[in-house]
Order: sequence, then C-alpha cells, then structure tokens
Amino acid sequence: MRTQVAIVGGGPAGLLLSHLLHRQGIDSVVLESRDRAYVEHRQRAGMLEQGTTDVLRESGAGQRLDREGLVHHGLELRFGGAGHRIPLTDLTGRTVTVYAQTEIVKDLVARRAEDGGDVRFEAEVLEVDAAAPSVTYRHEGRVRTLECDYIAGCDGFHGVTRPAVPGLRTFSREYPFAWLGILADVPPSTEELIYAHHERGFALHSLRSPKVSRLYLQVAPDEDIAAWSDARIWDELAARFATGDGWELGQGPITDKAITPMRSFVAEPMRHDRLFLAGDAAHIVPPTGAKGLNLAVSDVTVLARALTERYATGSETLLDAYSATCLRRVWRAEHFSYWMTTLLHVDPAADTFALRLQRSHLDYVTSSQAAATTLAENYVGLPLG
Ligand code: FAD
Ligand code: DHB
Repeated sequence: MRTQVAIVGGGPAGLLLSHLLHRQGIDSVVLESRDRAYVEHRQRAGMLEQGTTDVLRESGAGQRLDREGLVHHGLELRFGGAGHRIPLTDLTGRTVTVYAQTEIVKDLVARRAEDGGDVRFEAEVLEVDAAAPSVTYRHEGRVRTLECDYIAGCDGFHGVTRPAVPGLRTFSREYPFAWLGILADVPPSTEELIYAHHERGFALHSLRSPKVSRLYLQVAPDEDIAAWSDARIWDELAARFATGDGWELGQGPITDKAITPMRSFVAEPMRHDRLFLAGDAAHIVPPTGAKGLNLAVSDVTVLARALTERYATGSETLLDAYSATCLRRVWRAEHFSYWMTTLLHVDPAADTFALRLQRSHLDYVTSSQAAATTLAENYVGLPLG
C-alpha cells in the first residue's frame, strides 16, 4: 500500500497534520498504536495559545472549540498569601483559551472520519526507512508495509521515529520534582488560572468547564500516587493556595489522578532525509506555562505548509527550512518553560538565599510592566516563524 505522507502517531500532532494536509488535497495515513478510546481520554494539556486556536478555527476544526472553549484575558501569580494579576490581553492584545487536549483529539478524530480520512488505531509502527520512505507496522496481528513520499514522526517522546535520525544531538534537563494532576467535579474556585508559589511547593488551579476543575501539585519525582488520598490532596492544595482574605478552595469528587514527570528535552535536527519529527517526538517542555501542545500544533502547521508548497510547486525550500524554523520557536518555549518552572517551584536542595531571590523575582514580575509583558507575550505565544 502507498500514500503521500505516512504519519506515525495519532496524538494531536499527527491528527492535526493529517487534517491540514487533507485540506490541501494531500493524502496521508495515520498509524496509532493505542485504541481510539485511549487517545481520546488521556488527560493532558488544556491551555491553548491564540495561534493554536487560530489554526484550528481556520482549518474548519474549531466549531466546538468556539462554543465550549473558555477565553481568558489574564492569569494570577499567587505568593506570600496574596494574588497578583497579569493582564495578558492588556499587555499583548492577545487571549488564551482553555479547551482540553482530549477534546481537540476527539474533534480531529471525528473530523478525519467525516472527511474519509485513514486513521488506523491499534497499528503499532515497528520501523521507518527515511531514505526509501516506508513504514513497517503491526495491525490486526499482521506486519505490513506502507510506502510513502514522506514520513511524519508524530509519535511522542517514547516513539520509534526519533531513534531513526542518525547523528541526532540532544539537549536535556531533569527537574527534582513532578506534578500530581487531578480532575475534579467541582466548579472552579477562580475565573482565571492561579499559579501559586509556596514554601510547601508549587500549585496550579486550572479548569476544564464551569463545573470541572483541573489542579496540579508539585510532588517529588519518585512520589507514590498511592500515598495521596483525596483528602490529603485537597488539604495540600488548600495550604498552598491559602490567602489572607478568606478565599476558599471548593472541593469535590476527584475523577482522575496521575503523576507527570518533568523534563526539558530537544533533539536537533528535526529532519533526516524524508523523515520529519514533530511535537513531543522532537522536544519536551516541563508543563509550567503550557507550551507542549502548542508547540506540537506549531510544528505541524509549519510542516503542512512546507508539504503543500512541495506538492503544489515542486519546491523543497520550506521543507529544507523546516527544522530551523521550528527550532527557533522550540528554544524560545524551552527557555520560557524552564524559566516559569524555576520561578515557581521549590527545589528541595534550595537554600534560603535561593528562595529570597525567587520572591524578589516574583515581586518584580508583578510590579514592573516590562517584566510582566515579557511573561505575557511568551505565555500567549509568539507569532509562527
Ligand atoms: P502525543 O500526544 O504523545 O502523541 C503521540 C502518539 O503517538 C500517541 O498517541 C502514542 O500512542 C503514539 N505512538 C507512540 N509510539 C508509537 C508507535 N510506535 N506506533 C504508532 N503510534 C505510536 N502539556 C501542556 O501544555 N500542559 C499539560 O498539563 C501537560 N500535561 C501532560 C501530561 C502528560 C502525562 C504528558 C505525557 C504530557 C503532558 N503535556 C502537557 C504535554 C502535551 O500533552 C504534549 O506536548 C502533547 O500531547 C504533544 O502531542 P504529540 O501529538 O506530539 O504527542
Ligand atoms: C494547564 C496545564 C498547564 O501546564 C498550564 O500551565 C496551564 C493549564 C491545564 O491543564 O489546564
């Protein structure tokens, strides 16, 4: 069997790429190792940059996002028992939108099906050949080969495509903490996201809908989730968000609970021959600042444009520029995520001097318009390169 673009991985990057290519008349096949229910319910990111919502909307996949997405104009940094608002829209003219990754995946899977797209679940890619482009995969108990013009490696951090790039340079950083994330059936206790810095550790109050809250707690990297009863999670969240003005954190049944490791990672270059890496397959950011999903969307937007030019005109100029174009934005997001992470988390090895510096930096970011604007323009996302 043959297609124009073989897409390895049916997460947000792979599904969106397939949809964008279809809009330009380019055929693709998406091979996803997990089943449909699994990819549609895996709890992950939720904050979308304006550039990401623009891409979804312009591609015709934004109807439900427009109805259900919650547009935000600011965020709160909370420390020393008080909140400080960063007015994102006043500072940048742009907004961000809360709309869960699970919902983007559901919308794209449904849309690909309506458009007659070929998305194969439970199809595990075993090997890729970037020179005589083809993908070997196991589906329904049989090993098959898919021949193609190009391969898109959208198979996440643990996929098979990145190891197929010879001479790859990698850059990484581990952090001495992780996030325990919960989803709870309780109306959010805030209209805007709260990023809290506390001596006990970082906490984030996000949301999914007017009735569902999403919250995160800094925990140790080797933390055992079994040690965190629902009551302990709520107590710890309440302690880290506590203010002096009587603000209260609403509590409700926890419906999902998981620990996410935190790491920074970049692989360069993002291309080898006919193989192009996109999203988590090429880079990982710690979640503080919500860049992971947004980077996946910008990579595949750049790749879809380059493939469109190649099929329309024969020119490989944009394909040749793909890796450098993406990496510029990737490194900006890497720096921002690292900066937000180290600004807000408590390093267990930090001394009191380091903590005082952190507090001074938080004071500066919330009192200087120049410093607040730096945070805001990175948070809402820089224009696509
Ligand atoms: P993925 O979503 O990882 O998709 C890759 C797909 O490839 C998967 O469906 C996988 O099953 C499939 N695959 C892997 N190997 C193969 C193979 N051999 N053959 C076929 N298919 C294969 N970002 C934020 O901004 N905020 C957050 O709060 C946040 N939380 C996160 C929590 C977790 C546990 C993780 C892992 C990530 C989180 N992220 C978060 C990051 C964000 O979710 C990712 O950046 C985003 O999912 C990247 O999309 P992707 O399509 O590149 O990769
Ligand atoms: C969410 C996750 C993030 O990492 C973040 O910085 C903001 C929001 C979320 O899942 O809602």
